[in-house]
Amino acid sequence: MTARGLLFVFILVFFASCSNKTFINQEGNEQKIHQLISQMTLDEKIGQVQQVTDGFFGNEEETKQAIRDGKVGSFLNITGPERIAELQRVALEESKHGIPLLFGRDVIHGYRTIFPIPLGMASSWEPDLLEKAMRVSAVEASSMGINWTFAPMMDVTWDPRWGRIAESCGEDPYLASQMAVAMVKGFQGDLNDPTSVAACAKHFVGYGMSEAGRDYNTTYIPETLLRNVHLRPFEAAKNAGVLTFMSAFNDLNGVPTSGNEFTLKHILRDEWKYNGMVVSDWGSIGEMINHGFAANRKDAAEIAVKAGVDMEMATTCYTDNLKSLLEEGRISEELINEHVANILRVKMEMGLFEKPYNQMVSTDTILSASHLELSRETARKSMVLLKNTNKTLPLSKNIRSLALIGPLADAARDQLGTWIFDGNEDDSTTPKQAIGSILGTRMNYVAGLEYSRDKSTKGFEKAVSAAKKSDAILFFAGEEAILSGEANARGIIDLPGIQTELITELKKTGKPLILVVMAGRPLAIGAEMEMADAVLYAWHPGTMAGPAVCDLLFGDFSPSGKLPVTFVKGAGQIPFYYYRKNTGRPATSEDVVSIDDIPRNSKQLSLGFKSMHIDYGITPLLPFGYGLGYTEFSYDNLALSSSEISQDETLTVSARIKNTGNYTAGEIVQFYIRDKVGSITRPIKELKGFQKIELNPGDTKTVSFELKASDLQFFNGRDYLVEPGDFDVWIGPNSEEGLKGAFVLK
Ligand code: NOJ
Repeated sequence: MTARGLLFVFILVFFASCSNKTFINQEGNEQKIHQLISQMTLDEKIGQVQQVTDGFFGNEEETKQAIRDGKVGSFLNITGPERIAELQRVALEESKHGIPLLFGRDVIHGYRTIFPIPLGMASSWEPDLLEKAMRVSAVEASSMGINWTFAPMMDVTWDPRWGRIAESCGEDPYLASQMAVAMVKGFQGDLNDPTSVAACAKHFVGYGMSEAGRDYNTTYIPETLLRNVHLRPFEAAKNAGVLTFMSAFNDLNGVPTSGNEFTLKHILRDEWKYNGMVVSDWGSIGEMINHGFAANRKDAAEIAVKAGVDMEMATTCYTDNLKSLLEEGRISEELINEHVANILRVKMEMGLFEKPYNQMVSTDTILSASHLELSRETARKSMVLLKNTNKTLPLSKNIRSLALIGPLADAARDQLGTWIFDGNEDDSTTPKQAIGSILGTRMNYVAGLEYSRDKSTKGFEKAVSAAKKSDAILFFAGEEAILSGEANARGIIDLPGIQTELITELKKTGKPLILVVMAGRPLAIGAEMEMADAVLYAWHPGTMAGPAVCDLLFGDFSPSGKLPVTFVKGAGQIPFYYYRKNTGRPATSEDVVSIDDIPRNSKQLSLGFKSMHIDYGITPLLPFGYGLGYTEFSYDNLALSSSEISQDETLTVSARIKNTGNYTAGEIVQFYIRDKVGSITRPIKELKGFQKIELNPGDTKTVSFELKASDLQFFNGRDYLVEPGDFDVWIGPNSEEGLKGAFVLK
């Protein structure tokens, strides 16, 4: 170790030993903020509201000088704990006011130990697990000096074309809220803890509704939908103490979200009383010029600063223009002070003034056995069994021979998924490695294709011949990591390349065909599901994809994940989400007319005047909440504590669940309601609760959910209200099945 390294370790140990120093109270913080601001020059204040990337100021000495001069409040993407510690030291010891820096990074689903993509983690329906996973991510990231992550993303989306669906927790505001809160708690932990990392509620707001799923696209969201769906995870995160928010890229109802006073000021500050800080998304202030909402960078800065964006990420509309905006009287110094105060408050709440180096306590937990074990457990619980005809799965470890086919079976990078700045493919255990370690030479691996989009059939023959020699075929289908994530929108959401053709050839061998699908979005895999005997949807499972998939394929555990998003039959069915409205002409299955059944030269004017597609029908490929296991569960004895409740009473709804099969397994029991008549139309179902239980064969458990009148509240365009009337309730295994009851709210 170098002398500098030793000094660094000494500093760490010293400051870590101070880590139980008590924080000054909030009032004390406000006083200190006020005092600091009164001592700062305008240039220093403008420096605080600026976040820049590594290298922005030039070489290392120039960077340090910029810090000494107070030209920056935060950096993003600076790496290396020693370097971060040194820059932080300069900020504290050599800048006039000793204001610590925030070091931000996208730690989205793991730092080095990579967990499944968020959409996968959400399939576990286990908030506690997500909290633990993000705690591990914070422990690893903070050990490298990072004290701020741009996560969790809590955009609700109905659109599998949107590449960032991978980063979301799916389509439901209740599930997304539970997961958002869990992830915030995981990242931030106890703010006194040296491993705490500030979380960021992003992207505020509506970004998940980008038209046609094309990233950065326009969004139109009526206020009823905005409040009843899209704002809910953000409000939940705010109530859970999330330290920062990020404004988004999208134009929301004609006003870009990074210049949107209605959302940033009226809702976030005035209604929710949020007093943390808002950072823009990367360049989103200047992008208001492209939106046609600002004439130039100066206008853009004025709009954003007035709307409520405290800190600008990466670009410098603020640094370059705030001073002249002030001189021209277009903005006031008080406004800048407010933004600086919000930023300083976060730095204080994190304890950075007292414990600036409190992160970086130890790097030896990175990829530790317990972190990898948690990644494996999370991956296992995120996988969803979609089909299992004739109990094709689990496979016996004594199987004579297994054909393992598909390039994704051995794609160390792709299994990690999108947004893994610090993930390293060398840490991955692939399915091929893990299955190989169980089956040895009884595994016949043939990639068949070079990658998911490969269009060459040259590997088909070998793949088919391996299949013919084997007792079963395990095909790893899906899409590479690069096909989902930011900017990576797809218009066609089928399996890319000629994977379907290869699956068709394999099917002809007559051998049991098992598909494991690794993808960043719900793909339209109806045709492939038809051909397969069993289908396991694995998302992009992370570092431990191989061991996790083996845990399920060979039956050490039963799959227990359920879909956090509806699977559509094809892109033409989008949007299709379970809490849709009923319409004035809802169709039943009897109403459905298929395009193939319409007589040639039909003189009919219409095919029944019902709301349906004559090609897709009225059902999705798979409903929200769906997922199988290696056992069966029966649901009975639905009971309501009362058939009528008043506004101050709580209703208890329960049902008995029995494991009627032969496997110990987890079941995610779901609780839905329908508000039958409202002052605005209400969804046909709304998730109001879920519980994950585990039952041994033959065991039963009564699961209860409590419902308060306030849980039935919605925004009707004017007010939030709870309307008396008739309600349906369901307890069931997914959004389409379940035991149904009813009650009246007086
Ligand atoms: C742009 C993305 O939209 C946002 O989610 C991310 O945190 C920033 N870039 C920083 O990398």
